[in-house]
Amino acid sequence: VQIGILGAPIQSGQRNHGVQFGPEAIRKAGLIEHLDHHVGMTIKDFGDVEAGYVQGHADFYLTGKTPLRNPTSTAQANSKVADTVENILKSCDVCLTLGGDHSTAIGTITGHARARENISVLWVDAHPDLNTPVSSPSGNIHGMPLHFLMHDLQNERLSIPEFEWVKPCITSSNLGYIAIRDIDPGEIAIMKRYNIPHCSIREIDRNGIAHCMEKILDMINPSGNRPIHLSFDIDSLDPSIAPATGTRVRGGLTYREGMYICEEVARTGCLSAMDLVEVNPELSNFREAKRTSEVAVEIIKHALGLSDTYKLERHPQQT
Ligand code: ARG
Ligand code: MN
Ligand code: MN
Ligand code: MN
Repeated sequence: VQIGILGAPIQSGQRNHGVQFGPEAIRKAGLIEHLDHHVGMTIKDFGDVEAGYVQGHADFYLTGKTPLRNPTSTAQANSKVADTVENILKSCDVCLTLGGDHSTAIGTITGHARARENISVLWVDAHPDLNTPVSSPSGNIHGMPLHFLMHDLQNERLSIPEFEWVKPCITSSNLGYIAIRDIDPGEIAIMKRYNIPHCSIREIDRNGIAHCMEKILDMINPSGNRPIHLSFDIDSLDPSIAPATGTRVRGGLTYREGMYICEEVARTGCLSAMDLVEVNPELSNFREAKRTSEVAVEIIKHALGLSDTYKLERHPQQT
């Protein structure tokens, strides 16, 4: 398998400085070294997309509402991400994108859907990121990427010329959430209205991660042959494990639960694109930032089937 790696240093989807250094931090934690030299796997690093954040671009004002922040920068950077992911998937089996904030998924999922048919999305996050500009409490686009992409929500979109290239490419039958626990009222309403598959952190408490993964994969990929897009927000993990991120929510996934999710995705053999987003090395001290980036590398290794526990189960004949 050929893995293509892309950095997407996008910060304009939220308001904390520093998330644009996520790709650099994850690379410094040894990503390439960890992935290289595995039998049957080649790594191709495509560098970083140019995500020129133009300060002073107008926000999109909504009467009586929080304005939509930085639509122009976010749309332009994501358009490049979409083109690049689409291109990478022409020569690679898997495209791994390092964020950047989670608005990056607008670009990665669009690019993935252009390159492969019938994709399904597994969204691992404390948040469903399903707000519309009207339901959003913050105006931050990293809390809204999925409303751009879902067929069912096209009526909720504002007509913003810079975002016109974003075409809907997923529905409630090919999107599944796991680990969500901080959900805005508008998001709860949409999830109920469209019956979006999910395992909240509470369901993981009750039924265990193994049961939850079996359920969610069966819902979004019942035939077992859809290309899977794994969109992994580092804030899905408990803040004690991954503190360097902008929207920490207590009571997150344990280390093993996070890794188990990824091992189960690896086991499907369907992983075709992955995002690792919201690592912000500026939001904690040096040691915590380093620890968060190292966990990000582990998450990626597990999703690509490189964990020892997975290999032990999968290839008992090898050592
Ligand atoms: N739901 C909140 C909002 O809309 C938080 C979103 C956090 N998103 C993220 N990708 N970390 O602002
Ligand atoms: Mn997110
Ligand atoms: Mn999140
Ligand atoms: Mn909230």
